[in-house]
Amino acid sequence: MMMSLTLLLATLGLLVQGCCAAQDILPDGPLDAVLGKNVTIATLLDKPVYAFIIWNFNDGKEQTNIATAGPEGLKVNAPYEGRVSINRTNGNLFLSSLKSEDNGDYSISILTTDGSTKTAEIKLRVLEPVSKATITSNLPEAIEHNSTVILTCTAKGSFLKFGWLNKTAPIVANTRITIKDGETSSTLTITDVLRSDLVGPIYCTAANKLETEKSAAFNLTVFYGPDEVKVTPSNPSQYIKVGSNFSLSCSASSDPPATFVWYRNQTMLENEGPVLRLETIEKLGLAREMAEYSCSAKNAKTGRTVPSTGVSFVAMEPISGVKITGPTATLIAGNNTANLSCQATAGTVTTRTWMKDGKPLTASSRLVFSADMSSMMIKPLQKEDNGEYTCELANRVTTEKASYKMVVNYGPEPAEVKGEDAVEVNDPVKMECAAVSVPPATYTWKFNGTLTKVTTAQYVIEKAVYKNTGTYTCEARNSVTGKTTTKAHNLSVKEEGALDEGLSDGAIAGIVIAVLVALGAAIGLIIYCRQKVPVESPY
Ligand SMILES: *[C@@H]1O[C@H](CO)[C@@H](O)[C@H](O)[C@H]1NC(C)=O
Ligand SMILES: *[C@@H]1O[C@H](CO)[C@@H](O)[C@H](O)[C@H]1NC(C)=O
Ligand SMILES: *[C@@H]1O[C@H](CO)[C@@H](O)[C@H](O)[C@H]1NC(C)=O
Ligand SMILES: *[C@@H]1O[C@H](CO)[C@@H](O)[C@H](O)[C@H]1NC(C)=O
Ligand SMILES: *[C@@H]1O[C@H](CO)[C@@H](O)[C@H](O)[C@H]1NC(C)=O
Ligand SMILES: *[C@@H]1O[C@H](CO)[C@@H](O)[C@H](O)[C@H]1NC(C)=O
Ligand SMILES: *[C@@H]1O[C@H](CO)[C@@H](O)[C@H](O)[C@H]1NC(C)=O
Ligand SMILES: *[C@@H]1O[C@H](CO)[C@@H](O)[C@H](O)[C@H]1NC(C)=O
Repeated sequence: MMMSLTLLLATLGLLVQGCCAAQDILPDGPLDAVLGKNVTIATLLDKPVYAFIIWNFNDGKEQTNIATAGPEGLKVNAPYEGRVSINRTNGNLFLSSLKSEDNGDYSISILTTDGSTKTAEIKLRVLEPVSKATITSNLPEAIEHNSTVILTCTAKGSFLKFGWLNKTAPIVANTRITIKDGETSSTLTITDVLRSDLVGPIYCTAANKLETEKSAAFNLTVFYGPDEVKVTPSNPSQYIKVGSNFSLSCSASSDPPATFVWYRNQTMLENEGPVLRLETIEKLGLAREMAEYSCSAKNAKTGRTVPSTGVSFVAMEPISGVKITGPTATLIAGNNTANLSCQATAGTVTTRTWMKDGKPLTASSRLVFSADMSSMMIKPLQKEDNGEYTCELANRVTTEKASYKMVVNYGPEPAEVKGEDAVEVNDPVKMECAAVSVPPATYTWKFNGTLTKVTTAQYVIEKAVYKNTGTYTCEARNSVTGKTTTKAHNLSVKEEGALDEGLSDGAIAGIVIAVLVALGAAIGLIIYCRQKVPVESPY
């Protein structure tokens, strides 16, 4: 009897469905809930007045009654027993342990005592929980610019939406990247993959309205290169010292790291690795001629081989053991020839220059260079040729010098005597003789033609006496040239006071000039002041 009543009521509910505005009874659907979990289908009612509240279910094929709340309490239809309750205060339907068959439309009908009926309906979606989001790749490893990588994200669950993340940023489609979403999977297709595309880690997300599941981090190595194959130094000196610690290095941007091969004038060299040492080239006997060296980098995974640009150089022997040979005998100006020759014990010399006392030497009537500048001859030697001679030998890798000090003996040149002509008795007297000479001259003095004991350049008399008056002759002698020169000097010794002359001519001239200057200044000042008065006046 009860059963038939509920059936009747259910039919009634079906009949009146849609007859009344339902917005104020149930919210808009659909309502989502997770499989196995509980759900409450809440009404918008607040303490409604009713005779019966009837909840029905329609799976799209047929309608069944769930439960009815009425004056006699809650009646639950057999299939729902133990899983369902209706809140008698507001009409909410509570449904526990959701099954996938619970997917469908739920309707509520409210019958009042005066026989009117209100009905509303809502769709409930029972969602399978999201799980097992996983990324798989069509390739175990990829090659830049060549591979098309297809990543597939699969997950379990219903109403899934997929997303792709690079670290935390969403991956968006572009000309190379396409994303295709299906019901239970999504594919990310990257054509002509780049090394940067999958640096990641890459994640995929699968989500429905209630849950989001993130896959484990996914990496895929994209092999690339070699790129930017470079030789360093890229612009070395073309001439390198033989035996120096010189090498070329080859580098490339490559994953896996590139292997390197070296070429000399396009011919492969027996040299392994990224560094080509001069020592190796020398051992192969190939360093002494100018050649172009280059390397090529190979990536075993990408199969690509890329050459570098070339650099050219030659190994050159440095100059060493530079020596000047010059005259060893004693040289005398005017009568000797000097030959200087500059040689090195090792190295090819390309330029030779000569200097004297730091200044370049040039050929002259007395100075002749040999054609190759390796020697020079000065004939005849003169006193000006004294000095330090330097030869500088250079090639592209070295500059070496050697020096020779040339001593040309000459003189003495005409002697000079400095000293007083006249002194008073008891005055000191100092006469000094000088004659330019190499080596320095030795001096002797004669008084009135008689040799004295004085053998220094100075002739000193501490206190003059009358008989010191006379002629003093200095003789300068160069022991190497054997030449002498003489100079006579007269001295007269006078009585005391004989040489006091009052103011000298010089002193008088000085006083006159001082007076004239003072006068000139005074006149100038007067003229200046006179001019200045009208200037200061504003009128
Ligand atoms: C029914 O709903 C009312 C109002 O929302 C609430 O206070 C009450 O606790 C509910 N009763 C049950 C049995 O859940
Ligand atoms: C679902 O409802 C059942 C029965 O009312 C209850 O035992 C269980 O704790 C509820 N589960 C949750 C997650 O609320
Ligand atoms: C991805 O790469 C990172 C860093 O290179 C590494 O730590 C991680 O183990 C890799 N994960 C996988 C799944 O290969
Ligand atoms: C050559 O030079 C490199 C780098 O400048 C240095 O590491 C190496 O020790 C040097 N070798 C010799 C033999 O001096
Ligand atoms: C690049 O792709 C072409 C065409 O698919 C293939 O023939 C070639 O072997 C690939 N190169 C590498 C290094 O895998
Ligand atoms: C040069 O020396 C020679 C012999 O050594 C000598 O006969 C000659 O007189 C000298 N000439 C001069 C200008 O000194
Ligand atoms: C200097 O060199 C010239 C030319 O080589 C040679 O004729 C002359 O004899 C040499 N003189 C000396 C002093 O060595
Ligand atoms: C030296 O000579 C001068 C002039 O001829 C003469 O006056 C003087 O007396 C002489 N002195 C001596 C010491 O002979």
